[in-house]
Amino acid sequence: MSRSKLKKFSEIAERENVLEEGNELYGHLGGKWDEIHFENTNPIVVEIGCGRGEYTLGMARLFPDKNFIGVDIKGARLWKGSTIAIEEGLENVSFLRTYVEQISDQFAAGEVSEVWITFPDPRPKDRDIKRRLTSPRFLALYKHILKPDGIVHLKTDNLGLFEYTLEVLQEAPIKNLISTTDLYQSELQEHTMGIYTKYEKQYLQEGVPIKYLQFKFR
Ligand SMILES: C[S@@+](CC[C@H](N)C(=O)[O-])C[C@H]1O[C@@H](n2cnc3c(N)ncnc32)[C@H](O)[C@@H]1O
Repeated sequence: MSRSKLKKFSEIAERENVLEEGNELYGHLGGKWDEIHFENTNPIVVEIGCGRGEYTLGMARLFPDKNFIGVDIKGARLWKGSTIAIEEGLENVSFLRTYVEQISDQFAAGEVSEVWITFPDPRPKDRDIKRRLTSPRFLALYKHILKPDGIVHLKTDNLGLFEYTLEVLQEAPIKNLISTTDLYQSELQEHTMGIYTKYEKQYLQEGVPIKYLQFKFR
């Protein structure tokens, strides 16, 4: 591992805005993120596979009265988001380093108000279907941590993953589905608040339309 990565890992291990294995609160905040971590009862919004946390940070700047948690397994990426949050004094942002597969160990049932899945890896191979972050087993995890009427959002450049997700949703216990295959030609763009990640800007420059959907669980 490179020296710079090791340095980032040792830095995030000391930070209050990063929760990861080894931290005494890791795995013990379920049902208590408000009381123990954020010290307020504002709604909690979780970004799944947040990478460098651009969406989490963008939303946190716009909504100081909500708490945002970016989830990813890659420590060096979370270091970037965590560093920006500290530099900007954003106290309503934290990052959780864990596998999404283990997310129900980190949140109590019904603790989360919204889930954002931003530009997930498309995992096009058939053998990887179960690893897609919108496959039925992941949807069951999101349903568990979300409040009744909580919202799931998906933003992606990848048509295959988008169509796969719509197929999965046909069989899922959901309601109020809205979707578009061309977000920036659609009135649905108001739901995405003008926040763009680095990847998204690249796709748009290449002329790739961004797909978006949102739904609630029944
Ligand atoms: C294509 S990147 C997108 C990052 C960011 N959302 C963006 O739009 O720039 C996908 C991210 O999801 C994370 N990821 C994928 N599967 C994961 C899993 N099962 N658990 C935790 N993180 C995961 C990866 O580490 C990566 O940072």
